[in-house]
Amino acid sequence: MKVLIVGSGGREHAIAWKVSQSSKVDKIYCAPGNAGIEEYAECVDIGAMEFDELLAFAKEKEIDLTVIGMDDPLVGGVVDVFEAAGMRVFGPRKNAAFLEGSKAFSKDLMKKYNIPTAAYENFDDPDKAIAYLEKAEFPLVLKADGLALGKGVLICNTLEEAREGVKAIMLDKQFGDAGTQMVVEEFMTGREVSVLSYVDGKTIKTMTSAQDHKRALDGDQGLNTGGMGTFSPSPFYTEEVDEFCKKYVYQATVDAMAAEGREFKGIIFFGLMLTEKGPKVLEYNARFGDPEAQVVLPRMKNDIVEVFEACIDGTLDQIDLQFEDNAAVCVVLASEGYPVAYDKGLVISGLDAFKEKDGYYAFHAGTKKTDKGIVTNGGRVIGITAKGADLKEARANAYDAVKWVDFANKYCRNDIGKAIDEA
Ligand code: AMP
Ligand code: GLY
Repeated sequence: MKVLIVGSGGREHAIAWKVSQSSKVDKIYCAPGNAGIEEYAECVDIGAMEFDELLAFAKEKEIDLTVIGMDDPLVGGVVDVFEAAGMRVFGPRKNAAFLEGSKAFSKDLMKKYNIPTAAYENFDDPDKAIAYLEKAEFPLVLKADGLALGKGVLICNTLEEAREGVKAIMLDKQFGDAGTQMVVEEFMTGREVSVLSYVDGKTIKTMTSAQDHKRALDGDQGLNTGGMGTFSPSPFYTEEVDEFCKKYVYQATVDAMAAEGREFKGIIFFGLMLTEKGPKVLEYNARFGDPEAQVVLPRMKNDIVEVFEACIDGTLDQIDLQFEDNAAVCVVLASEGYPVAYDKGLVISGLDAFKEKDGYYAFHAGTKKTDKGIVTNGGRVIGITAKGADLKEARANAYDAVKWVDFANKYCRNDIGKAIDEA
């Protein structure tokens, strides 16, 4: 089989690595890819939003399966373009990817189908939003409706902050058209857990749990980022939580989407908050998490291509999804200054140490091959993943491997997985 993967981050590197383990696959392409993905795939210089070029390439190379890693092309309808041309593609159609593409839609869906989530109001008029906020109690959360690279969420402690937030999102359009609508949401406290799942339109199979670290600095300080590190499984995702979510969240979401005429095939990523009043959905994503994929996929036992095909064919009920009984930790090596301003083009050393080393992975995100060698090419540069018999061992292994790699402005959080000690 020939597989095309669309995307260029650490998540797509993890997907490419996992696809390369499949006995069904002879050749992998990735558009546009990165320096790490090149180890398993032929990278082609087509952007993830260039749908016509992607389709023409897939046809020319007679690709058997295209896997979309990123949210933007999914929300933009790349799956519809491929399906209309008779190509097999893994991911939700545009009308289903809307689950991630519009927070206002996802909140209304949860309300209509009684899926537990924070109380909220949607606004498309900034004056009405302000009038509502003037009577509200703080803290509150403001969310730009559309895609905003994980940055369109503002936690406001005072009315003054909320006024500035409304201005930033709806008037100054800091997140572009994502801010045409805005959700105002109740502030929740608790542990966050990411549960990723495979969905075939009717059946849902959840993967092992993970926890992300969204803030840039140690102690959950600094700005929100795409994610600075993950561990899997989450010790806080107990059987009781799992049972609750199976009963009220997972299948309910799949059924709700089907009932709305938005059949969902692909990955649903449930961002959960474990509150005192039980688990609640913080957000949905319509794709693998980044860096959740980097800890979940190395622990997955199944041939991922078989699972992707079962999702497309509607036969996921026949798949016995299995994960290793161990743990994994991913520490993201970023460029100092991320997520604001940072240098690129700095030479990366030490990557050879990962070759032939079982249970250790360097999943590239912002990297590029040049005559000088592999250089940094983004804010999040490489995710260092290590497995271990348990979370503590995996964490020690990951921080050990962090030392093998170097570049001039290398920065990472030193407390990824600290929560493990509180479990
Ligand atoms: P989201 O993109 O909706 O997942 O939001 C990004 C991050 O903001 C989440 O991972 C949480 O850490 C935080 N967040 C979002 N919504 C809430 C909420 N209602 N209460 C508290 N924190 C939140
Ligand atoms: N790590 C969170 C996300 O991928 O959205």
